[in-house]
Amino acid sequence: MPNRTALITGITGQDGSYLAELLAQKGYRIFGLVRRLSTPNMSHLAAVRDSVEILDGDLMDQGSLNQAVRQAAPDEVYNLAAQSFVATSFAQPLLTGEVTGLGALRLLEAVRLHAPQARVYQASSSEMFGHVRTEPQDESTAFHPRSPYGVAKVYAYWASVNYREAYSMFVSNGILFNHESPRRGMEFVTRKITDTVARIALGQAKTLTLGNLDAKRDWGYAPEYVEFMWRILQHRTPDDFVGATGESHTVREFVEVAFRCAGIDDGSKRVVSDARFQRPSEVFNLRGNPAKAARELHWTPSTKFEQIVRIMVDADLARLRAQGRR
Ligand code: GDD
Repeated sequence: MPNRTALITGITGQDGSYLAELLAQKGYRIFGLVRRLSTPNMSHLAAVRDSVEILDGDLMDQGSLNQAVRQAAPDEVYNLAAQSFVATSFAQPLLTGEVTGLGALRLLEAVRLHAPQARVYQASSSEMFGHVRTEPQDESTAFHPRSPYGVAKVYAYWASVNYREAYSMFVSNGILFNHESPRRGMEFVTRKITDTVARIALGQAKTLTLGNLDAKRDWGYAPEYVEFMWRILQHRTPDDFVGATGESHTVREFVEVAFRCAGIDDGSKRVVSDARFQRPSEVFNLRGNPAKAARELHWTPSTKFEQIVRIMVDADLARLRAQGRR
């Protein structure tokens, strides 16, 4: 098969960088859309920096998306860019709607006009299920988003379905449950926990300050989830798929395992509760059913909860020790 070309938005983030590595191994030509920042954040792309062609653009700017799609002439487009932090979406709801919701529509328009044959992956989210009444959640579960972020993702989901139906475009949604790794941003709960626990282990911090410890999430391992995204676009027809492990754990369990991995016995005494980290409306419980992905895409995640926590704690310990030696 001749080499294919992919355009990835959000390429500097956790998922974008793992996806770029996967597609580089597969021999893709890779374009990455990058929003200009005064301090560039290319660190996750270190392993593939020479294989990625960076395009200057922003989901807020239709012209830049049109230009990026024309220039890349992609076979596959992965929309991973978003204002992706739920807590910030309460503080900046309009920005979140613009980027996470309308941004996806702008990209679909750019593809419709300039590369209508391209296959499009939309990064949909389990946050769309929000206030759930049935468990586990699958592709037919009703949406009830609980944050401006979740609302914007529902908009982007339906825009994607609509472009598939209205224009016969190959547009698919991956409805991903939480997925973590050492590249997770520090503001998300898992990475906040593993970084702080590692600091406590090294005597650099004393306490771990958190919000709701009872929230339950279905946490998977991010490198496996980018394989899932790719498989969605190799499927014979465009469709929507849930990506999840089928297991859920509380934030409290994540904390306990992290302290254990760092060899700290009195971890629970180090946890401090702070209402600042509570959300105005919370998503209490998410657990996905990945049966359709297993059946139709032959995708099954294998990295278990405890392993994910250990990988992240070990990586943070190693990073902090290396910084200490500098
Ligand atoms: N961030 C954070 N910080 N969350 C906390 C804290 C804290 O100090 N204390 C408790 N939590 C709880 C949150 O209230 C939430 O219930 C849970 O931990 C997980 O929060 P996050 O890690 O911020 O992730 P999220 O579940 O809100 O959203 C992530 O997953 C979605 C997929 O379901 C993000 O990656 C989204 O972009 C993604 O769509």
